[in-house]
Amino acid sequence: MVESEQEQMWNAVDTYLSEHVGTLDSTLDAALEASNAAGLPPISVSANHGKFLMILAQIQGATRILEIGTLGGYSTIWLARGLRSDGKLITLEAKQSHADVARTNIERAGLADLVEIRVGRALETLPGLLKSGAGPFDLVFIDADKPSIPDYFKWVLKLSRPGSVIIVDNVIRNGALIDPEKDDPGIDGVRRLMDMLAAERRVLATAIQTVGSKGYDGFAIVRVLE
Ligand code: SAH
Ligand code: DHB
Ligand code: MG
Repeated sequence: MVESEQEQMWNAVDTYLSEHVGTLDSTLDAALEASNAAGLPPISVSANHGKFLMILAQIQGATRILEIGTLGGYSTIWLARGLRSDGKLITLEAKQSHADVARTNIERAGLADLVEIRVGRALETLPGLLKSGAGPFDLVFIDADKPSIPDYFKWVLKLSRPGSVIIVDNVIRNGALIDPEKDDPGIDGVRRLMDMLAAERRVLATAIQTVGSKGYDGFAIVRVLE
C-alpha cells in the first residue's frame, strides 16, 4: 500500500515522539522483530500507545490486569511493566502459535513471573476466570477479534469492581465506525459496544480518535462506577 502524505506525517510524528519521550526500547523492539519473524500480523499497538497503557496501569496502581488478545505479547509487556511489584497479568489468546511467540518475548523481557497466558478462545476461557475468582481486575485491555467485543465487554463487567478501567482498541477503524457502507461483523461489534456504553448506567465512557503509525483509529476508555 502506498502511504499518503498524511500517513507519512503521522508516522514521522510517531517516530519523533518515540525518540523524544523515551518510548524506544530494545526489549520491545526485539519482541516486535520476533513476532514479525514468526509471521504474526503487524497489528500490535504502537510504541506510544503501548506506553500510554503502561502509564494507565500505573495511574490505576494496578495489581491485576486482564488482556484479551495477546498476539506476540507486545502490548502485554507494556501493560505488565505498569503493574505494581506484587501484581499479575492474565492474557487470553486463541492461537497456540501466537502464545508461543508471546511466551518467549515475555520471558526475554523478564516478566514471565508476572504474566500468565491462557490459550483458548476467550469466550471459552473467560467463564473459568470468573469461576476461579481471578478478578476483579483493575485494568482490562480488550484487543482480540472485533465481532466478539460486546460479549467480551459483558464478561469484563462481571470481572470488574467500582473503579476498574476498561480500554477497547480499534473502535474507529479509519472512520468505518460511522460509514453506513461498512457493515462487516467487526465494525458491527464496535457499534454494538457503543450502543451498550450509551445505555449502560454502571459505567462512564468516552472514546478517543488517534492517528499515528497504525493509521487512523482509536480506543474506548471506560470507567466502571458500580
Ligand atoms: N494486543 C496485541 C495485539 C492483539 S491482535 C498487541 O497490541 O500487541 C489480536 C489477537 O487476538 C490475535 O493474536 C488473535 O489470535 C487473538 N484472537 C482472535 N480471536 C480470539 C479469540 N476468540 N479469543 C482469544 N484471542 C483471540
Ligand atoms: C487488527 C486488529 C487489531 O487489534 C489492530 O490493532 C489492528 C488491526 C485487524 O484484525 O486487522
Ligand atoms: Mg488492536
